[in-house]
Amino acid sequence: MHLTKEEERIYEGEEGWTKKKAMEILVAIGDINNASELIPVESAHMSGVSYKTIGDAFEFINRLEGTVEVKSTLNPMGMDRELWKEMNISTEFANKQTDVFNAYKHLGIAPECTCIPYLLDGGAPKKGVHIAWAESSAVLFANSVIGARTNMEGAPSALAAALVGKTPFYGLHKSENRVPELKICMNCALADADYSALGFLIGDLVGDKIPIIELSSSTRPSIDELKHLSAAIGATGSIGMYHIRGITPEADVAQIESKLRPEERIEVDEGDLEVVYTEDCEPDVIAIGCPHCSSDEIMRIYELLKVESKGRRIRNGLDFFIFTARRIKNQPQMQHIIEKIENYGVKVICDTCFVVSPAFENYVCVMTNSGKMLRYVPLICGGAKAKLCRTDECVKAAF
Ligand code: F3S
Repeated sequence: MHLTKEEERIYEGEEGWTKKKAMEILVAIGDINNASELIPVESAHMSGVSYKTIGDAFEFINRLEGTVEVKSTLNPMGMDRELWKEMNISTEFANKQTDVFNAYKHLGIAPECTCIPYLLDGGAPKKGVHIAWAESSAVLFANSVIGARTNMEGAPSALAAALVGKTPFYGLHKSENRVPELKICMNCALADADYSALGFLIGDLVGDKIPIIELSSSTRPSIDELKHLSAAIGATGSIGMYHIRGITPEADVAQIESKLRPEERIEVDEGDLEVVYTEDCEPDVIAIGCPHCSSDEIMRIYELLKVESKGRRIRNGLDFFIFTARRIKNQPQMQHIIEKIENYGVKVICDTCFVVSPAFENYVCVMTNSGKMLRYVPLICGGAKAKLCRTDECVKAAF
């Protein structure tokens, strides 16, 4: 990979040990992927923030000096910074988690601790802008809905890109690698958790091929539904983008689409989706907010709670959690709504989520509207089953 004189200086350590290490990571990744050069990125988003997943590997971050070169944000960590005691997080875990958090903060990374940086004010990149994001749901959303350009970074490569302000030019940064190679034809209308179910199927179906998803003509997904579609595809698959005509702001793909061979078309119908909903267990917890809830989602849950509760609190023996970004919870217009939601016995948690916190490992059956949780809960949340349901069914089940 070609390096400019300035990049060579960094590589040789003339700007210090931290930048040298970051540049070594970028060069190694660039060489493996035949990148021609490094390109500037506008922002970086870091995964590997929860002490549950990173463990003591974070001590490496403590040794880093200086600050990041571009706007950088953090994914959820292992606990709510303010409510960790109520979450029964041990002091030992809380101390370690605080060390991880401070290590990233020390580098100038904004401690947003959310997987939806693109929904925060000033957090969405513009179309065509190069970024270096980890967190698969955010990567898929950024490439497919916003039209920004990022590879699926890991924790080390996103951090290296943040420290240098650059990333190797390969993969989804290049137009020729963003072209759809097969088509998913959706034969029924979709709403709500159907997008989680569809994403769950697509991730498994397409392998490493970027799909163009043809929705039925009456279907126009909301931002939140696209967020869930992106998260579920990222959970079951290995691709970093998809196309939906009229949504993905990319060059016109109609011509390419017309050339796809019949075997490059996959039909998905209602029956295929229903299979994703078939887990049959009795929920002892309801969890919504994977990816983190937007303010619109929280408002909708509040409206559903008002209807379904008939003045009652959620039933005994059941927990109900909503996960969101602290910046969303703290919006002045949300304060009153969140207070009312909590009056029903629902807990609104920030900075973390069901999957990356150790606080949620003692449940048997988790009811959720998230395809990403459907994949990860059975794998890393103490062996609980996960049951996918539509949001209104989740709220109804709470009473
Ligand atoms: Fe976000 Fe946690 Fe889900 S990081 S996408 S809420 S697993």
